[in-house]
Amino acid sequence: MRLASLLGLPSFAAALVGAASFKDCQHKVKESIHDPPRGWYKHAPAPKHHVLELKIALPQPKFPELEQHLWEVSDPNHTRYGAHLSKEEADALMAPHPETLDIVSQWLASYGLAEEDLIRPSANDWVTIHVPVSLAEEMLNTTYHVYKNFKTGESIVRTTSYSLPEILHEHVDLIQPTTMFARFKAFKTTLHWANQAQALVSNSSGGMITGPAGNQVDASCNKTVTISCLRQLYNAVDYNTSATNCNRLAVTGYLGQIANDMDLQQFYQLQNPLAYGSNYTFVAIHGGANNQSYEAAGLEANLDTQVAFGLSWPTPGTFYSTGGEPPFIPDTPGSDNTNEPYTNWLHHVLSQDTLPQSISTSYGDDEQTVPYTYATRVCAGMATLGARGVSVVFSSGDGGVGDGDSNPATQQCFSNDGRNVTKFMPTFPASCPYVTAVGGTANVPETAVNFSGGGFSDYFHRPAYQDAAVSKYLAKLAPGTYEGLFNPMGRAYPDVAAQARNFATVYRGSTVSTAGTSCAAPTFIAFISMLNDARITAGKSPLGFLNPFLYSRGYAGLNDITKGQNPGCGTDGFNATVGWDPITGHGTPNFEKLKHLVLTMP
Ligand SMILES: *[C@@H]1O[C@H](CO)[C@@H](O)[C@H](O)[C@H]1NC(C)=O
Ligand SMILES: *[C@@H]1O[C@H](CO)[C@@H](O)[C@H](O)[C@H]1NC(C)=O
Ligand SMILES: *[C@@H]1O[C@H](CO)[C@@H](O)[C@H](O)[C@H]1NC(C)=O
Ligand SMILES: *[C@@H]1O[C@H](CO)[C@@H](O)[C@H](O)[C@H]1NC(C)=O
Ligand SMILES: *[C@@H]1O[C@H](CO)[C@@H](O)[C@H](O)[C@H]1NC(C)=O
Ligand SMILES: *[C@@H]1O[C@H](CO)[C@@H](O)[C@H](O)[C@H]1NC(C)=O
Ligand SMILES: *[C@@H]1O[C@H](CO)[C@@H](O)[C@H](O)[C@H]1NC(C)=O
Ligand SMILES: *[C@@H]1O[C@H](CO)[C@@H](O)[C@H](O)[C@H]1NC(C)=O
Ligand SMILES: *[C@@H]1O[C@H](CO)[C@@H](O)[C@H](O)[C@H]1NC(C)=O
Ligand SMILES: *[C@@H]1O[C@H](CO)[C@@H](O)[C@H](O)[C@H]1NC(C)=O
Repeated sequence: MRLASLLGLPSFAAALVGAASFKDCQHKVKESIHDPPRGWYKHAPAPKHHVLELKIALPQPKFPELEQHLWEVSDPNHTRYGAHLSKEEADALMAPHPETLDIVSQWLASYGLAEEDLIRPSANDWVTIHVPVSLAEEMLNTTYHVYKNFKTGESIVRTTSYSLPEILHEHVDLIQPTTMFARFKAFKTTLHWANQAQALVSNSSGGMITGPAGNQVDASCNKTVTISCLRQLYNAVDYNTSATNCNRLAVTGYLGQIANDMDLQQFYQLQNPLAYGSNYTFVAIHGGANNQSYEAAGLEANLDTQVAFGLSWPTPGTFYSTGGEPPFIPDTPGSDNTNEPYTNWLHHVLSQDTLPQSISTSYGDDEQTVPYTYATRVCAGMATLGARGVSVVFSSGDGGVGDGDSNPATQQCFSNDGRNVTKFMPTFPASCPYVTAVGGTANVPETAVNFSGGGFSDYFHRPAYQDAAVSKYLAKLAPGTYEGLFNPMGRAYPDVAAQARNFATVYRGSTVSTAGTSCAAPTFIAFISMLNDARITAGKSPLGFLNPFLYSRGYAGLNDITKGQNPGCGTDGFNATVGWDPITGHGTPNFEKLKHLVLTMP
């Protein structure tokens, strides 16, 4: 790190405080949490030389304007439907105030950080710096510790509070890693080694049963879900996508998850022979891994790529591998575990001129482990993707209304706000109102799977597009139901659902059976990508942010799921019902119906 010569910096507005004087400013607490979330304990002081990748979010004063664009271009009834923003237009609406850029640069310069030491995305709305713990502690008037996780033994370097000179408070939204303990797990729950012979692939010799669209589907689909089954169940058997109309889809990978190419080809041979030999684009972000040895293959990444690309072939696919979480080993120089991968991913994609029109992610964590400020910024990034015409879907989580732990002794269904009250555990980013959250179903006829994440955000208010649907559901609950356990005014999720159990997935050379809403999200995005294919081929815009469409018209092209519940936190959870519900949303796709709906829109 260079020592900045203040003279070398761009000249600042004379009225601003002199750089040297920052150190004399009284610090004021910017953010603090009561305790680390349940499961973490303070282990030891952080090694002073450990290098932190600190990310500083600068306020986006024009975000309300950006959001207004999002609502207009995503509402099929608005005259601007489909008029998505360009990268330049979006960047301008994400940009911080120039004064903010100046004062934050001056503050950093006062600690020896020159402009060359600062990494900024094209919208300039974040600043990333690499500093040792000792300097971060001085800048933020805090003390970092190594925290350990009781269950996993994992270590992370965090603090429960940090401060900034008062004058900076309005110029900084958040700084991480500080108070964030989220771990963003992959949403696949079970894995058992299937007898290869039982992995029924395109098996029509076992008879037929009636699928959700009223058509006949292979009876084997009720036991083993394949690409062919999903096309049959969701009524897209005869639809061929184009390889050349500029429609693309992408899935994301985090936490060192690697999609194995040999597994993918084997999967294609078994489940979509026409796709055999085809490839996808691999994009590494922030050191994202791509070790192609079988031992390094990740089940989550394999599942996501196989389902999404297998269903939508020959639409070109992209796999984003975002790094940022090698295990942290205290005292190992250079060991980095920021584990807040979404900002790195967002910076990368939002800096591209063109983007895949459909993107799916199957990772998340309990909302309360994600600081409100960070959740708000990541959610704003998702809104920006929507405004640029990207359909962004997330799996809704695998814990029902809870955290997926059925053992009351280790369950996390307690608020982390100091009150320690029992409450349901909404999942982020599914709880962000600018994404489409996908819950899970199983069997034919389809019922909700009991692990399907669903509920109500404690951070985000209920957006207008789902007011009618969610109010109707709430009105059906007996008075006082789960009072205090959830926030009835919050953004409710999931929005939709898809099959989430018994997926025949190829993993390290064998077919295994996989479950989780991680199955549902890549399935749903593939059908959305097919809808985008149909619209683009017809000379129309891509669908972009889906929810205003889904709640105003799209639900008519979804199979309503009315059976099942999602227990958690010692309760039976919510019920699937006629109409929207917080387990399966508006339901699973009927592609032909949806295609008709989207082709009759402007
Ligand atoms: C830093 O925090 C301590 C209390 O934790 C406080 O006494 C001290 O004044 C603070 N320093 C500055 C520069 O604000
Ligand atoms: C939106 O447009 C549809 C189709 O033209 C119409 O039936 C519906 O009433 C409109 N909804 C609103 C809220 O204007
Ligand atoms: C197809 O399903 C039937 C009945 O479930 C089973 O007997 C048969 O072995 C299956 N065929 C293949 C190729 O798996
Ligand atoms: C599908 O499987 C479920 C659970 O095994 C069973 O209850 C249901 O009857 C089956 N559906 C059909 C159409 O056979
Ligand atoms: C879709 O592609 C398959 C395989 O190339 C072909 O047999 C079929 O006729 C095509 N369907 C339509 C509707 O074009
Ligand atoms: C697929 O593309 C990746 C890079 O995107 C490359 O490393 C790999 O060798 C390709 N695989 C095949 C089977 O062509
Ligand atoms: C790839 O993974 C394998 C198995 O985990 C490991 O033995 C090998 O060293 C890795 N290769 C690289 C280049 O990291
Ligand atoms: C919160 O309450 C639960 C249940 O009463 C208890 O097991 C747990 O230790 C409490 N946690 C804290 C941080 O007080
Ligand atoms: C969820 O359903 C599975 C069977 O599909 C069952 O084994 C499990 O016990 C159920 N979990 C809960 C929490 O009810
Ligand atoms: C779910 O349905 C059951 C059976 O109808 C009912 O007893 C229960 O109260 C319902 N639960 C909720 C949360 O609506």
